[in-house]
Formats: sequence, C-alpha cells, structure tokens
Amino acid sequence: MGPNADSDAGTAHDLTPAAAPTAPTPHPALGLDSLAVHAGRDDLTAAGVHAPPLDLSSTNPLPGVEAGGEAYEAMATGGHPTAGGHVYARLWNPTVARFEAGLAALEHTEEAVAFASGMAAVTATVLAAQSESGGRHVVAVRPLYGGTDHLLGSGLLGTETTYCSPDGVAASVRPDTCLVVVETPANPTLDLVDIAAVVRAAAGRPVLVDNTFATPVLQNPADHGATLVLHSATKYLGGHGDAVGGVVATDAGWAAALRRVRAVTGGILHPLAGYLLHRGLPTLPVRMRAQQESAEKMAGWLAGQPGVAEVLYPGLPGTDPTGLLGRQMRGPGAMVTIRLVGGYDAAARVAERVRLFTHAVSLGGVDSLVQLPAALTHRPVPADARPGADLLRLSIGLEDPADLQRDLAQALAED
Ligand SMILES: Cc1ncc(COP(=O)(O)O)c(C=O)c1O
Repeated sequence: MGPNADSDAGTAHDLTPAAAPTAPTPHPALGLDSLAVHAGRDDLTAAGVHAPPLDLSSTNPLPGVEAGGEAYEAMATGGHPTAGGHVYARLWNPTVARFEAGLAALEHTEEAVAFASGMAAVTATVLAAQSESGGRHVVAVRPLYGGTDHLLGSGLLGTETTYCSPDGVAASVRPDTCLVVVETPANPTLDLVDIAAVVRAAAGRPVLVDNTFATPVLQNPADHGATLVLHSATKYLGGHGDAVGGVVATDAGWAAALRRVRAVTGGILHPLAGYLLHRGLPTLPVRMRAQQESAEKMAGWLAGQPGVAEVLYPGLPGTDPTGLLGRQMRGPGAMVTIRLVGGYDAAARVAERVRLFTHAVSLGGVDSLVQLPAALTHRPVPADARPGADLLRLSIGLEDPADLQRDLAQALAED
C-alpha cells in the first residue's frame, strides 16, 4: 500500500500507487561516494525493499475518475504525481524518478528530468527554452558533440543558431536568445571552457552545460552558475554500454518546463534503462577515478609514441589555457584524444587494427573504445567546423593500462 492510500487503507484491493520521490532528499553531510550509493533510495526502507524495484507498468490503475484526471493534468503540465497516482508511464515512472533524484543530488540541483536519450534531452531543453522565453535564437559554443551541433543548425526545432568560440558568447547573445549551449570538456578535442565566464557573458540567458565527459564526480556546472546540466547518460552514468538515456539536472521551475515538454512529446526514459542508470550511480566515483588514473598513464605514454603528433588531454598544454583544472574540474577525466602524424590514413588504420579497444561510437563504459570523429560522430558538422580527420578519440576503460598500451602499440606500428 502506498503512502497516498489514506481513503481505502486496509482494503484488499487498494490500488493506490506509492508516490515516487519527487525531489532529491538533501544529504548535506554526505560525501560524494556515499551520496552516489544512497541518493534516490530514500523510499526503499519504507517500501520494505533493499534494491530499487523495477516498475515496468505502462499504465496505472486509477483510484477514481476525478483523482486520476487531476493527477493527469498535474503531470501533463510539468508537476509531480498527486493522489491520483502515476496514471501513465509517458508521464511518470517511479524507477525513472529514483534515478532522477539520485542524479540531482550528485549534480547539486533541486531536480532532474530523464529522457530516452541524450539527444531527446537536448531536444526537450531547446523546446522548453523557446517556450519559456518566446525567443528562438540559440548560441552554441563549438566544439560540441556532432549530434548536438547538427540538431541546433538543422532548424528542425525552429531554432536560429549562432556558433561561436567561448570568447564570442557576449557578442553573440541577442534579446531573443533563449539558450546558450556549451560542452566542457568538449567532444572531441577535450577543450575546457570556463563555465562561470560563459554564464557572465550570457547576461541572464539560461546556460546549458553538457557535463557528459566530466560527470558529477569531476565537475558540477550548477555550482558555477549553469542553469541546466545535461548528460548523455548512455556514457559514464550507466557505464556498462547497455542503456541509452539522457538527463537534465536543474532547478524546480526548469524541471517542470522540461517535464511538460517530455509529457507532450513522449521522450521519457524507459524504466529498464532508468533502473540500469540508477544502478550505475553507486560505482560512478570509483569507475571515474580508476578510468582517469589509466587515462593519465595512457596520455603520458601516447605523448612518447612516434606516430602520435599531439595528445589532447585536459591539463596538457592547449586544452586548459586558463587553468580550469582544479578550479572548475576536479580531474582531467578518462577521455584522451590524439592526432596522428600520418593523418586520416594513419588514424583509420589504428581504428581498424585495435583488438582490445573496440572501434565503436560512444564512450564512458568499463571497456575501452576508439573512434574517428570526423568520419563518424562529427560527420554531420559543416566541414569548416569539423574536427581534423587526423584525430582519434579514445575512451579509456577499466582494462590494465599495460594491455591497452600493447594494443595501441601494435595498431600504431608501421607495417
Ligand atoms: C557530449 C555528448 N552529448 C550528448 C550526446 C548525445 O547522447 P545520446 O547518444 O545518448 O543521445 C553524446 C553522444 O555521444 C555526447 O557525446
């Protein structure tokens, strides 16, 4: 019986659903690792379970016509469930809500809203920003993930987008700017962008920071003034390459606007993915630390390889000219990008010759991946803004760094 079931308490057929957690319970005294283990689990003890239940219901029994209708209206307009319950899984799902509460706690925001993919989250954010402000202009700081760059420039969402460098934000914003979009570390060059400086330059316009590469373990954009913090949860949050999802951590007002868009456009995260992503959070800090430690070793080793022209890795010259490591980001992360002396042919050869790395799109999992962004993730980006064809992006997993080095050495070797 759910805690909302006050009218029919004790009846054999009490179908009133338990209220899902509606906001992260603040755990001010807990450190990051403890929070990662416990956040989003506040209702479990009262429910008499230890592991979060996976609720796959597509629909929910209604306690009454009026109560059901009121709950439907509350959620379709961005609110939380009322006494009428969860009504329909496009509006609300308790397994997804637990993942949202956990992520919001880790990102130091009031709430989070989860979507079927990172791109569904970007789409909902742009639509919500347009509807909140009435403006249709977006400022996008390059480089960005190719899908985001492509979506914003495509006009599919009715946006007019000005692309700029971090220094160009102030000159690019207009009275009808509804959103400023930035990624740091940026995909795929791993450039670090000063979030607080972008927020100042945005002069009151909402700033969306894609925090996929850093994760809340290494960076909390909301602490630096970001309005919305986005993740492709498909990557580090899940960490095992078996769930696609997106999530936006933000304040209660923006969360309501995002849920309204999500309810009417139908982009909610599937509960099974919500379960897997929530299950990924407790190990996120240890995974990030271990993968980062290997990435640091890989970056140093790669810098000494004859076929490698340049290693792009936060903290190395070029990626962090303003000293954001330590000030904004707590560590350099687990992505390493390299430029090959032999250009595209050499990069393609490495991607096709690796054996322990997998040549595949995506990143952030426990196994190492490699891909050539110009040919794959950033293919839709206009040629003048596309990353160089000599560039390979490596996602460092949990394998022994010595084995990863041996694999890359054989892939880099001249015939
Ligand atoms: C930085 C970044 N943001 C957003 C996305 C889009 O996420 P998804 O693939 O989950 O839709 C990706 C995907 O690679 C990404 O790397």
